[in-house]
Order: sequence, then structure tokens, then C-alpha cells
Amino acid sequence: MINALRGMKDLLENDGKLYKFIIDTCEKVVKNYGYEFCEVPKLEETALFKRSVGQSSDIVGKEMYQFIDKGGNDVCLRPEGTAGVVRAFIENKFDRAGGVRRYFYHGSMFRYERPQRGRLREFHQFGVECFGEASVYEDASVILMLNEILNTLGIKTTLKINSLGDTQCMPIYKDKLIKFVQNNTENLCQDCLRRLQTNPIRILDCKNENCQNILQNAPLITDNLNQICNDDFNKLQEILKANQVDFQIDPKLVRGLDYYCKTAFEFVSNDIGSQSAVAGGGRYDKLCEYLGGKSTPAVGWAMGIERIMEILRQQQKETKRQGIYICALNSNLIDEIYKIGKMLRKNYKTEISYEAKSPNKHLNIADKKGFEIFLCLGEDEFSQNQIWYKNLNNKDEKRISIANLESEI
Ligand code: HAM
Repeated sequence: MINALRGMKDLLENDGKLYKFIIDTCEKVVKNYGYEFCEVPKLEETALFKRSVGQSSDIVGKEMYQFIDKGGNDVCLRPEGTAGVVRAFIENKFDRAGGVRRYFYHGSMFRYERPQRGRLREFHQFGVECFGEASVYEDASVILMLNEILNTLGIKTTLKINSLGDTQCMPIYKDKLIKFVQNNTENLCQDCLRRLQTNPIRILDCKNENCQNILQNAPLITDNLNQICNDDFNKLQEILKANQVDFQIDPKLVRGLDYYCKTAFEFVSNDIGSQSAVAGGGRYDKLCEYLGGKSTPAVGWAMGIERIMEILRQQQKETKRQGIYICALNSNLIDEIYKIGKMLRKNYKTEISYEAKSPNKHLNIADKKGFEIFLCLGEDEFSQNQIWYKNLNNKDEKRISIANLESEI
């Protein structure tokens, strides 16, 4: 038998339903903010991701599904969505046309990671990208939009925000950080020693305890922003507060992709392991230019659909059973349960089964459909004006009098 590859999953049955439900919910919200659907290829030139996500990132360094195709081209399955959308934006000369464009997309991304709960090799993202809008109000809007989606889905998260500065203040901060860390290199992990040469700010979010200890008194980017970045960061906080969106400032939030400047954010949840990001994004004003286009401010985010599905699945399990399923063992008793069912419907959600079946078959249906109370009428019970009762939550079962049915249940 041939099985799916490690870290790749089918979306069938309940998972298929959840996937569709999440996409539909996202689409409904983002369309109200003026975002329009786009689709770009899943296979791109490897150079696109090396240049945008960054040579020094884990994604490019360790996780790419990269190969040489039959034409000798160095290609790669997309590890994320932003780079491809930016490439399409430039290739279609929208950077030259000016104005503001807003896109949303969803689909597979590929990262050769070690699979675990909420971490797959093929996973799905729902993402948005806004081009041509430099105002921090758009940064706030994309966060509000994501917050609205998560609230609609009933998912509790913590929003973490940071500012990564711009091309003027970030290099000055980087130098300060390098000087600070260089005095403490003996306890740094191997990855951070490499990061010190390639991308020092990634040291800030290293999970290694020794590295975190060293960083306790490290200079923070939020204390080193220039006037413009500082004003924008303050304005962002003001808008979030005015819209009752709670957040935490996390000066060590640097994100795993190199293209960000100014606003960076993540929504994290404890429901899929410790502090996992269910969505993340930020501003990337330099990426268009960096990929050969005209300088265009941009901001966006992407949400990990499997991580949201994981949380919703847990919530489904925790959801209490509801309602009554009433059925009969013999067809001559259907009229009777129909009468009782109609009476119960005045106060309770009630499903009446019109078909006589064995008790086990009825019980299976009631269980699968998530009913709380199972009522079943057989000849024996009927002859004594009783009905069989089972509570599918606590498994309590007994015969109860039909006359006292409502008070008994
Ligand atoms: P990212 O933080 O790399 O950002 O990914 C976004 C989300 O994808 C994560 O928060 C997580 O929920 C999910 N995710 C990442 N890796 C995996 C995995 N191996 N398995 C399951 N889920 C995963 C980006 O991709 C940026 N393109 C976001 C963006 C858009 N920034 C600006 N515009």
C-alpha cells in the first residue's frame, strides 16, 4: 500500500468541513475590508525565496523543497505565500500602475520541518497582502481583520506586537546588539553563533535557555526606534486600544522571515503546544524594490489553517452534547413517539426518527449526531406507559413514565 508522505495529510470528512468553514469565515471578513482573491503558482524559482525570505532564515537554510526540474531550472515548492504574490505584483507591472491593491489567497505551503502537532511539511495558509498603503492605519486594519476572524471562529489567542524599525534605525540597533552579544559569545548556541554573522536579530527569538539568559539585559529595538518608527508604533497601539484589541509588546518578536520592517505581529495560542503562532505577519516596505520592482509599501499576514483546525477539533470534543433523539423499535409505535416528540419540541431541540430500528442502530445514530438524551419506545415500555431513557453524557439509563417525561429529563 502507498501511504501519504510524512508530514502530509489528507483533509477528509470532519477535517474537510473544518477547512471549508475556516476559509469561508476568513473570506467573508477580508472581503469587507476590500481584499480580493488571487492565486499564484506553488512552484517558483528558488532565487525568489532566497532573496525574499532570506538566505540566513531557517526556511531557506534548512526547509525548502528544492530541486532541479527537467529543464535544468532550480525550482522550489513555495514555503510561504508572500514572495509569490510580490513577484506576480511586479511581473504584472502593478508596481508601476500605483494605487492600493489588496489580495487574499489560500493554499498549500511546503516546509521540510520535523512533523509534530500543528507542524506539517505540507500545510495550508490563508493570507492577505496589501500593496501601496504606507499608513499605519492599514497595519492596524490587517490586525483588526485577523482579530475579527479569530473571534468569529471562537479561538482565544494572545496578540504580540513589535516594531523592527526601518533601514535607518535597524542597522544602528543591529550594531548595538552585535556589540552586546560579542561580549558573551562563549555561552551562545551554535545556531546563534552562525546568526551573529548572518542575521543577528534572529538571536533575539532563540529558544535556547543559555541564549535567553545572555539576552536578558540586551538592548531592545523598541528603545532604539527613530522618530517615524516610534510615532507609527505608538499610533498602532493607540488604534488597537481604541478598538478594544488586547496586545502585548514583545521586543524580542523578530519573525522567521527576513523581509519585515516596522510592524511585526503574531497571534499565539497555548492550545497547540506552548505559545505556538496561529498567524503572523507585518510590514515589508522594501521587498518589492528588493525583488526588482518599484518601491512599494506593503503589509500582510498569514494564518496556519491546520493550527486553527487543531484548536477547533479540541473545542468540538469539549462541546457538550445537546438535544433529544426519540425513536421506536416497532413501526406501530411511530405515531406515539411522533406525539411525544412534538410535545418535547416546545421546549427542547428534538429529532424524531420515523423508522423503526434495533436499539443499537438508533443509539449509534443519536451518539454520532451528538444528542444528549436518547428516548426509545418498545412494546414492553409502551404497555406500561413508559419510555427508555439514556443520558449520553453521563451514561445514566432507566425507564421513565411518559406522563412525567418533561420533569424527569
Ligand atoms: P509565517 O509566520 O512563516 O509567516 O507563517 C504563518 C503561519 O503559518 C504561522 O503562524 C503558522 O500558523 C503557520 N505555519 C508555519 N509553518 C507551519 C508548519 N510547518 N505547519 C503548520 N503550520 C505552519 C508567513 O508565512 C508570512 N508569509 C506571513 C506574511 C504575509 N507576512 C506578510 N504577509
